[in-house]
Amino acid sequence: MQPPETIDAGDLVLRRWVPAYAEEATAVVRKSLPELSPFMPWATEAYDLAASRDYIVRSTANWDEGKEFNYAVFTAEGDLAGSIGLMSRMGPGTLEIGYWMGTPFTGRGYMTAAVRAVTEVALGLPGVERVAIRHDAANGASAAVAIKAGFAEVERVEREPEAPGETGVDVIRERKER
Ligand SMILES: CC(C)(COP(=O)(O)OP(=O)(O)OC[C@H]1O[C@@H](n2cnc3c(N)ncnc32)[C@H](O)[C@@H]1OP(=O)(O)O)[C@@H](O)C(=O)NCCC(=O)NCCS
Repeated sequence: MQPPETIDAGDLVLRRWVPAYAEEATAVVRKSLPELSPFMPWATEAYDLAASRDYIVRSTANWDEGKEFNYAVFTAEGDLAGSIGLMSRMGPGTLEIGYWMGTPFTGRGYMTAAVRAVTEVALGLPGVERVAIRHDAANGASAAVAIKAGFAEVERVEREPEAPGETGVDVIRERKER
């Protein structure tokens, strides 16, 4: 079973990505490159409308195949502020959350609220036993979001760094209860 295409997260609304969001997404990503680039390998000076459209095309295909469920995050004012997704890549029974927030919208508790809302949805899906968040050990803001949303550390794993701010040590956190 798939999650809903729209999720209410208090002041925010999460909506499945559609091509119409590409221009606004490109603008907010480009405005946020200094904060996104340390931990998001795709967030480089080369990021443009084509890259945003490509992300949405891939997100649409992955959603239809049941692999990933990616949402654009909208504020109450209707601004596209960021992105959050549920990914099946950690294997059966687990959905992993990935996210970013545009710099003009950070520090307001938005991503914590979005994580809480998608976790509630994910743990209600048949066959989902846990929700995980995986972040680099140097990513203090991502760790803060995960901790505030009730995710406890369960493991640390080493991998090749992919973005300039990464140490190569991933912290894996999980939640099993709604
Ligand atoms: C991580 C991110 C999504 C947080 O979004 P947000 O909407 O600002 O999150 P919230 O406002 O809900 O919470 C942010 C928390 O991080 C804290 N924080 C911010 N920068 C921090 C840092 N360098 N070290 C430690 N904590 C930090 C804030 O103080 C806040 O905690 P508080 O409410 O206890 O004060 C955003 O910073 C981001 O997009 N970062 C770049 C992309 C990224 O790293 N994505 C995650 C990859 S795993």
